Amino acid sequence: MAMSESSQENRTASHDGPRGRTDHHAAPGTISIQDVSLAYRGVAGSLQVQVLRDISLEVASGEFVCVVGASGCGKTSLLNCIAGLLKPSMGSIYVGGELVEGPARDRGVVFQQYALFPWLSAIRNVEFALEMRGMERKDRREAAIEYLRLVDMERSADVLPKALSGGMKQRVALARAYAAEPQVLLMDEPFGALDAQTRRRLQIDLLGTWERKPRTVFFITHDVEEAVLLGGRVIVMKASPGEVVSEVEVGLGTKRDSHTLDLPAFAEYKAVVARSLAAAEISTEAGR
Ligand SMILES: Nc1ncnc2c1ncn2[C@@H]1O[C@H](COP(=O)(O)OP(=O)(O)O)[C@@H](O)[C@H]1O
Ligand SMILES: [Mg+2]
Repeated sequence: MAMSESSQENRTASHDGPRGRTDHHAAPGTISIQDVSLAYRGVAGSLQVQVLRDISLEVASGEFVCVVGASGCGKTSLLNCIAGLLKPSMGSIYVGGELVEGPARDRGVVFQQYALFPWLSAIRNVEFALEMRGMERKDRREAAIEYLRLVDMERSADVLPKALSGGMKQRVALARAYAAEPQVLLMDEPFGALDAQTRRRLQIDLLGTWERKPRTVFFITHDVEEAVLLGGRVIVMKASPGEVVSEVEVGLGTKRDSHTLDLPAFAEYKAVVARSLAAAEISTEAGR
């Protein structure tokens, strides 16, 4: 079994430098992060805080990539750059070969806090995404039911978010994200606020959904077990400034479910990622 762990320094640069606004060779759903650095401007006159430094990553179409790192290492900042909600201070990001210059429908975001419209029922939340996609009103309800079915929520279609549990709300948020049919799903600790059992159920469901409807997923977590269960590849980040320190290819195949958790190889991959994360934290401490 190949348990590869390559350091950022040793990796050959996989991008081709500046591409202008469009790379016509890139497949839909690819993410190309090229030498991205990000500094937050301090308040009047104070120093800038460098949050991300020289991040380069290539994500293939349909790949499920997890990013792990300690809280504060810049994971959300990186995701927001891909989403187009933040502009890198240096470097560029391409999604499907197009330079990211702002939010667009090719990228769907699922945040930790359920961002549902509270005045709309579950199904109307999903229908909203379909409307944004330009689907005609007469087709929306039936299609929305299908997306709710995908996350096992069709029976709560007419319920308002306030009457749903946290896990159910997050399922609807997922259905809505899927309904927008983005090329790329950006997920920022989407299960972080849930209890352990619900989180596990949603992780397994997400794997099933991804298998039925493959797409590129960029999934952020601080949980090593979650990263190894979900990710075909795990990117490990360190903090201050946020940098990629290693990548672990998780050779557990693409068909995963609750039994994956019992595999000896699962425990081994977890140990590899945990070690890398611990080393990242030591190097963060040393750099302070
Ligand atoms: N809008 C902001 N202005 C200034 N600093 C910020 C801002 N947002 C985040 N930060 C800082 O950037 C660092 C990384 O934050 P974040 O990307 O949220 O990390 P993570 O998601 O890994 O916890 C933290 O030190 C945080 O305090
Ligand atoms: Mg975060």
